[in-house]
Amino acid sequence: MNYGEFGGQYVPQELKEKLNEIEKEFLKAKDDKSFLAQYEYYLKQYVGRPSPLYYAENLSKYAGGAKIFLKREDLNHTGAHKINNAIGQALLAKRMGKTHIIAETGAGQHGVATATVCSLFNLRCTIFMGAKDVKKQFSNVQKMKLLGAEIVEVKEGEQTLKEAVDVAFKYLLENMDCFYLIGSCVGPSPYPEMVKFFQKIIGEEARRQILEQENKLPKAIVACVGGGSNSIGLFNEFIKDKNVEIFGIEGAGKGLKTGKHASAIYNNKIGILHGMKTYIMEDENGEVQDAYSISSGLDYPGIGPEHAYLNKIGRVKYDGITDEEAVDAFKLLTRLEGIIPALESSHAIAYGIKIAKKYDKDDCIIINLSGRGDKDMETVLK
Ligand SMILES: Cc1ncc(COP(=O)(O)O)c(C=O)c1O
Repeated sequence: MNYGEFGGQYVPQELKEKLNEIEKEFLKAKDDKSFLAQYEYYLKQYVGRPSPLYYAENLSKYAGGAKIFLKREDLNHTGAHKINNAIGQALLAKRMGKTHIIAETGAGQHGVATATVCSLFNLRCTIFMGAKDVKKQFSNVQKMKLLGAEIVEVKEGEQTLKEAVDVAFKYLLENMDCFYLIGSCVGPSPYPEMVKFFQKIIGEEARRQILEQENKLPKAIVACVGGGSNSIGLFNEFIKDKNVEIFGIEGAGKGLKTGKHASAIYNNKIGILHGMKTYIMEDENGEVQDAYSISSGLDYPGIGPEHAYLNKIGRVKYDGITDEEAVDAFKLLTRLEGIIPALESSHAIAYGIKIAKKYDKDDCIIINLSGRGDKDMETVLK
């Protein structure tokens, strides 16, 4: 599927055939009542959905302005939104008779979610992770190992998420029987569409919950964007609501003007990365630049193709939050609400605090709290 000029399938022919097989099965599964019942069963009984929509009263008072609601994806089993998609794709892989799952991970949350569903469904699991991220997110690496996953430490290039995806695709080409369980709405078609399908539950619940609690739609919704799965999951259900402002927040690292950031949209160059056409961090010579963010889950030099499209048509505003601002928001939410957020989510919190002031006390906004911060304790304490 394409999103305007973005998306597509920029991969070798043999991989195209495999992707088309997955697409065919996905299209059947998404309309199959028994498949959907299974997916919903695990979301409810295993993940613990629906996740609450929590009115953060202390944070709202601090920000001054609209009431701030947090969509608590941090309370899901394994501590982030990643499990929604991992359950969905693992069920699809089983339906296709696959026995070996491979996945990439940055912050380790998708790796843990994948290793978890592989234990649950008795599937072999191989996780590719940049060597730098292995060091930074060590507690998640230990969890994955306990869950029985094999970890492949990727030592190429910057040793972060981009290289982990590169090596996972290379492995897939040599081991075509595997199922590649991609963790964000990136990559060649049908992955962006499929990941959105398994994450759109976030926005469906949030829209229903805010109408129940406030009897009106929010003025704005905010989510952080790495590849873009927690954000598209929240945004999808609100795109049709023209009066709801939508904000996607990338990692601005040490500052957008310093070049040390992970904001593909700010970079404003269109190219091909990991089988998709999208905005990427590319230099004048067409070389993909290294992304940088304190947060491993945002440290990616591209963005999902649907986000590229939503940016182009102006429906979503994309902006950046620096490392420093994110760390401040991390500490603030912890102190004010007793909730330790993931560093990725802290980017959305920081932006939400900034914009809350624009609105009235009777208005509300929703921030997606995509994950919990246990994995980031060491980074922040440093
Ligand atoms: C808690 C959390 N939030 C957000 C992200 C960013 O990914 P995405 O943009 O796909 O939601 C990650 C990625 O690892 C994550 O762990």
